[in-house]
Amino acid sequence: MKQRRAFLLGNDLQVASGLAPTTTVLDWLRLNQRRTGTKEGCAEGDCGACTVVIGRLDGETLRYEAINACIRPLVSLDGCQILTVEHLKSPDGALHPVQQAMVDLHGSQCGFCTPGFVMSLYAMYLEAAPANVLQIEDALAGNLCRCTGYRPIIDAAMNTLGERGAVDMTSRSETARRLLALRADETIVIEHASGACHAPTSCDALADLLDVHPEATIVAGATDAGLRITKALEHFPVMVDLNRIKELKHVAETKDALIFGAMVDLNRVRRALGAMHPHLDELMRRFGSEQIRNSGTIGGNLANGSPIGDLPPVLIALDAALVLRSKAGRRALPLERFFLDYRKQDRLPGEFVEQIIVPKLPADALLHVSKISKRFDEDISSVCGAFRILLDAGGCVADARLAFGGMAGVPKRAANAEAALKGARWSMEAAVAAAGALSLDFTPLTDMRASARYRTSVAANLLRRFALETLSPHIATRVSGGLRTLADA
Ligand SMILES: Cc1cc2nc3c(=O)[nH]c(=O)nc-3n(C[C@H](O)[C@H](O)[C@H](O)COP(=O)(O)OP(=O)(O)OC[C@H]3O[C@@H](n4cnc5c(N)ncnc54)[C@H](O)[C@@H]3O)c2cc1C
Ligand code: FES
Ligand code: FES
Repeated sequence: MKQRRAFLLGNDLQVASGLAPTTTVLDWLRLNQRRTGTKEGCAEGDCGACTVVIGRLDGETLRYEAINACIRPLVSLDGCQILTVEHLKSPDGALHPVQQAMVDLHGSQCGFCTPGFVMSLYAMYLEAAPANVLQIEDALAGNLCRCTGYRPIIDAAMNTLGERGAVDMTSRSETARRLLALRADETIVIEHASGACHAPTSCDALADLLDVHPEATIVAGATDAGLRITKALEHFPVMVDLNRIKELKHVAETKDALIFGAMVDLNRVRRALGAMHPHLDELMRRFGSEQIRNSGTIGGNLANGSPIGDLPPVLIALDAALVLRSKAGRRALPLERFFLDYRKQDRLPGEFVEQIIVPKLPADALLHVSKISKRFDEDISSVCGAFRILLDAGGCVADARLAFGGMAGVPKRAANAEAALKGARWSMEAAVAAAGALSLDFTPLTDMRASARYRTSVAANLLRRFALETLSPHIATRVSGGLRTLADA
């Protein structure tokens, strides 16, 4: 059993001990290391001022990605490399090309957001990420600037990322070698007066731990759990960190399904689901930000049980199932049966989400997914609708799965609307009849995101939009990379 965490800060080996398990990467950098280039804006993952770049091994390959340091517990970065804005300066004092372009093209005014923008661009630079305007806008959706108006920042990004030189692969392979050497198979346990953190490396060890500590707080990407630390100022008496469990990070593919480990991050989920249908790619493009998608996981989004989470309605429409695991064994559960009541899930003490099984979309299925939120980027849904129907040879609805988020205390299928569709010829009239039945399915709330009336009328309109798009496939839908018609998909 290891009692400390080891990682690289730039090229320096760090062995952190004596810290509370809930210490965030940002607090450690600023308060402990006095690296104050990384800023705190919102402390809730929204503004990107705290963006740092993390190097982590994917198998034996080193990958770099931007994350929000403010909500990420330091303990979860065991075996990783942390790069902050201070690391960008070269030994002779010259700025990195990303920084120089921000200076030359006036991408900074008050400067508070600048280190965060620079680090998001640096991650793209290191990964040689494709960089047209849309891709840059997506990558920067999680960085807010109240001064510049963004155009100069995007110009700076286009300038540098279009002309980037070769990344130094020698230092990269040396870093990968050092991170490999830090890998250890044993569980890390950090004891502290505020609470203990366990970081196991296998599902068996996790099941054993949760059997002994069923009350433990599980932490995956911490994009929900981290806010309990920074906003509710919670300490977790027993915290279990899942980030070292490799078997939870696999995506497997069978003839009929994709099988996601619970710790698959949301950007990988985007790639896998996005290949199935352009609406799934578009939904995931608008899920949080690049930083949130790099940390957040599919398992966390489902286990969190939010009625306005984006994946639950979509995965219910796709007829996904969960595999729940405990020391007693495994049980599979249709996802729609997991959500019992507001924030109450069918998860027994000692159980964790191990896998999510997502059936592939039959070739002749019709699918529609819409996220309606106040802001286009980085906002939580007011209403999310996900619809999948199968037609028989005569064009009548043989099977319908219409799922909504934001319409009830749990993500839920619209049973009456589905019944109205079944057997009917798929047409605008059928969609309107189903929309009319929605009032039997839902009595939504009025809250800060939307009024009950707005939600009811949007939900009905989404069904009409589904009919319009699928009955007139020439109608364009906006997906990543520009406008495409569904017929292109
Ligand atoms: C700025 C910002 C933007 C966001 N935007 C969106 C958005 O657009 N759409 C959206 O749906 N959500 C959004 N979220 C919420 C969040 O990012 C997602 O819910 C994310 O998927 C949570 O995953 P995680 O790995 O970070 O979970 P964590 O925060 O680590 O955990 C979430 C909950 O699930 C539990 N848990 C995690 N993994 C498991 C497991 N394997 N077994 C059992 N329990 C587990 C934890 O105990 C905790 O209660 C946003 C959050 C932030 C901060
Ligand atoms: S401080 Fe705003 S995202 Fe971290
Ligand atoms: S330069 Fe002032 S917030 Fe961006």
